Amino acid sequence: MTVSNAMTADFLRSAYGGESMAHMRYLIWGDVARDEGFPNVGRLFEAIAYAEWAHADNHFKVLGGEKTQDYTVAAGGVFGCNKTVDNLQGAIDGELHEVKQMYPVYLETARFQEEKGAEKSFHFALEAEKIHAKMFQDAQDAVKQGKDVELDNVYICPICGYTHEGPDAPDVCPVCGAKKEKFKAFEK
Ligand code: FE2
Ligand code: FE2
Ligand code: FE2
Repeated sequence: MTVSNAMTADFLRSAYGGESMAHMRYLIWGDVARDEGFPNVGRLFEAIAYAEWAHADNHFKVLGGEKTQDYTVAAGGVFGCNKTVDNLQGAIDGELHEVKQMYPVYLETARFQEEKGAEKSFHFALEAEKIHAKMFQDAQDAVKQGKDVELDNVYICPICGYTHEGPDAPDVCPVCGAKKEKFKAFEK
């Protein structure tokens, strides 16, 4: 897949950078949470890190065909490592930025420019980030009270990053239609 319009291509590279950073940041913050005695928060970070990988992977593949050395990507993401309660605030801020500003603008641009691959990739990410913002908020509410968050099994769709909490994965991904067997499990 390739992209014809420069602005959509810029947005894909920017989103790829942000998702890549989020992926790594969440893995690090997950370890911090476990060290602080919040294993479920750690598992939540680890699961959502996988969803951010799926988003980065999608954006990267939509850009397929670009020469790799023509661009550098700076990720305007949250930096640093703090206590888990603060790391969760960083996660909430990042997800809400994506939900309220970044992905809606990127998505509208891709639609306007009739970039079908980018439109799908941005849509997949936007739907997952809404769920992430809520899950991180619930986790922070618990940690603020000195408690680990209550968290059932978490299942991530490897196609779109859809994030599901419950005893079992959904039969079909409600965002992309992937089958249950595809989901990656982060179980209790
Ligand atoms: Fe993402
Ligand atoms: Fe996210
Ligand atoms: Fe999906």
